[in-house]
Amino acid sequence: MYRLTQEQKTRVKDLLSRMTLDEKIGQMNQESVSIVGGFDVPFEELIEMMTDGRISQEEFEKIMSTAEQDYHEDDIRAGLVGSLMVQDPRKCNELQRIAVEESRLGIPLMFGLDVIHGYRTVYPIAIAEAGSFDPDLFTRTARMAAKESRTQGVNWHFAPMLDVARDARWGRVSEGPGEDPYLVSQFARAKIEGLQGDMSSPENYVAACLKHYVAYGACESGRDYNTVSMATSMLYNSYLPPFKAAVEAGAATVMASFNDLNGVPCTVNQYTLRHILKDSWQFPGFVVSDANAIRECVAHGIAADEPEAGKKAAAAGMDVDMGTQIYKKYLREAVEKGEVPLSVIDEAVERILSVKMWLGLFEHPYVPEEAMDRYEVLPEEHRALAREAAEKSIVLLKNEGDILPLQKGQKISLVGELAASREEIIGAWAMSWRPTDCVSIQEGLEKAGATLEYFPCCGPESDIDEAQVQAACQYGDVIVAVVGETDAMSGEASSRADITLPGHQRELLQKLLASGKPVVTCLMNGRPLALQWEAKNVPAILECWHLGIEMGSAVAKVLLGEKNPEGRLASSFPAVTGMCPIYYNHPNTGRPGGRSKFTSRYLDAGFEALYPFGYGLSYTTYAFSDLQVEEQPDALQVTVNVSNTGNCAGVETVQLYMQDVTASIVRPVKELKGFAKVALAPGETKPVSLPLQKSDLGFYNDAGTYLLESGLFRIYVGGNSRDCLCQEVSIGF
Ligand code: GLC
Repeated sequence: MYRLTQEQKTRVKDLLSRMTLDEKIGQMNQESVSIVGGFDVPFEELIEMMTDGRISQEEFEKIMSTAEQDYHEDDIRAGLVGSLMVQDPRKCNELQRIAVEESRLGIPLMFGLDVIHGYRTVYPIAIAEAGSFDPDLFTRTARMAAKESRTQGVNWHFAPMLDVARDARWGRVSEGPGEDPYLVSQFARAKIEGLQGDMSSPENYVAACLKHYVAYGACESGRDYNTVSMATSMLYNSYLPPFKAAVEAGAATVMASFNDLNGVPCTVNQYTLRHILKDSWQFPGFVVSDANAIRECVAHGIAADEPEAGKKAAAAGMDVDMGTQIYKKYLREAVEKGEVPLSVIDEAVERILSVKMWLGLFEHPYVPEEAMDRYEVLPEEHRALAREAAEKSIVLLKNEGDILPLQKGQKISLVGELAASREEIIGAWAMSWRPTDCVSIQEGLEKAGATLEYFPCCGPESDIDEAQVQAACQYGDVIVAVVGETDAMSGEASSRADITLPGHQRELLQKLLASGKPVVTCLMNGRPLALQWEAKNVPAILECWHLGIEMGSAVAKVLLGEKNPEGRLASSFPAVTGMCPIYYNHPNTGRPGGRSKFTSRYLDAGFEALYPFGYGLSYTTYAFSDLQVEEQPDALQVTVNVSNTGNCAGVETVQLYMQDVTASIVRPVKELKGFAKVALAPGETKPVSLPLQKSDLGFYNDAGTYLLESGLFRIYVGGNSRDCLCQEVSIGF
């Protein structure tokens, strides 16, 4: 929980009172390590030249071989840098020593990094981990990442990413916990506890950074960085809740998002930054821009030039400039001209110094030498946690004829380049992992003692090798085809206009199915895919996502039946791309989708998700019965019986939804309001209770006012957002 003692607050104010204007602005300046060297174009231009082929990769590398990295030592010494992005502990200490021992006031630096789903021990991407519906797991993985990274000098994570996302064309769906505000809010609280909660030692916690504030996941057409327009009620009901939950949980920092929101870029948005975040929610930490985002306000067309962009950002409550040096170059003059009040600077710097104080950097600015190599060899408990997270995140989408789990002794034709990859299992936004730590799916199956031959055949970006396909079809009793996306096909700047399986992978599946042998498809992807053909033609489909370093071990355990899959979908899967955005918690419309032509549906795709939010099968089956809703003064006590009606043990995720049937604005047909996981032996039945506070039955109107309105409510309970038992109840407020 980010909170300062009175003594710490006093120290901050005293330090602030002794700072010059330049030193104050220095705290608002975050530098990236710059690349300088013997080339006559800016580094960004060099990247462009390689990207568009003006220079080859080899030429680029040759040029870079003479380049040096500029860590801005002189500016640090002059007190003109507040934070950097560096992930080398010895370099962090070296730069920290300059700040602490050579600058006038010795203010320590913060070192930030994108640790989104693990530092050295990479665990599943967020869209997968969220599908475990296991907040305790969310906390434990975050705590592991905090401990691993803090000993490497990183004391600030640009995480958790809390963007509700409903359009799988957007590549950053992979980085976030899915489409539902309630689940994302649970994820948010748990991650803040994991990153910031263990203050028993400065080596155990980091400052979290809630991103990307706000509504970035609603970028139009799923195209990254694109414009966002939405009703204020939608903003409050669907996109703000995870950030509010994380602020209430004590998050230390927030990162504003690239997008404009209703015409005002979030980087300079007074309404979201000041009115909502700092005034209404009383957020005590500081706000950092996204990379280069203040400069991009010129491109947005909200500022004529960089000085104006800097003034607008500072006025809006943007405390730290990531990577443009605009604050460093222009804020002093703006203050001296009276265009930016000194009080704005002082407020920003007080927030920044307070987080540094809370991090313990004034007492412990350096990484202890003996801590640096603590995780050189990953502790087994870290690997075990990554394996647990991976196993719990796998979702069984289809299992016709119970092909899965595979039978002992079956010969497996393992097909697909992704099956042998240690790199592609990691997923987007992981930068401190090592291939030697990773277990590919092939290695996982081999370690588990499976009888298999591996046939690359085809990957997301390669042609089909017909000979290998023939060999694969001949060898195995069963074919396991690993298909999906490379990790570069999701994450930032990775929107796809067609979210079917990339390349020739569907064709590969067709050829494998033509063999007449049973085909199991393991999906390795960073977003929901449009699987209309696969869902119809492939008998068994396992959604395996990008699960991190232990992916191979986890997939092998599920394929071989040592682990009964328990993952559920945190995001709906469309049948075809054209259905995006698609999400379960949608308004009913006046013509709810149905069979009739004149309803809200597609002529060629109907209206329902192929696989809905919360969906996932098991190697056993479950049944729900005896739904009871008991009204209490301030809550509804919802209980249901859950039975394991199959022949193997399993874990069901019981989901509680509600619908406000009639209200002063249209409300979603369902809203997740609770969930619980229950382990059941074959034949076992257990009652599950899910409390629902009456105060959670409300919604925000277009003035951002939270309303509780009397009337009829429907309470749904089930194993996914589509198949539920229902009880109606009238509530008076
Ligand atoms: C990127 C991302 C953001 C990340 C930042 C620093 O552009 O939008 O998520 O934290 O830059 O790497």
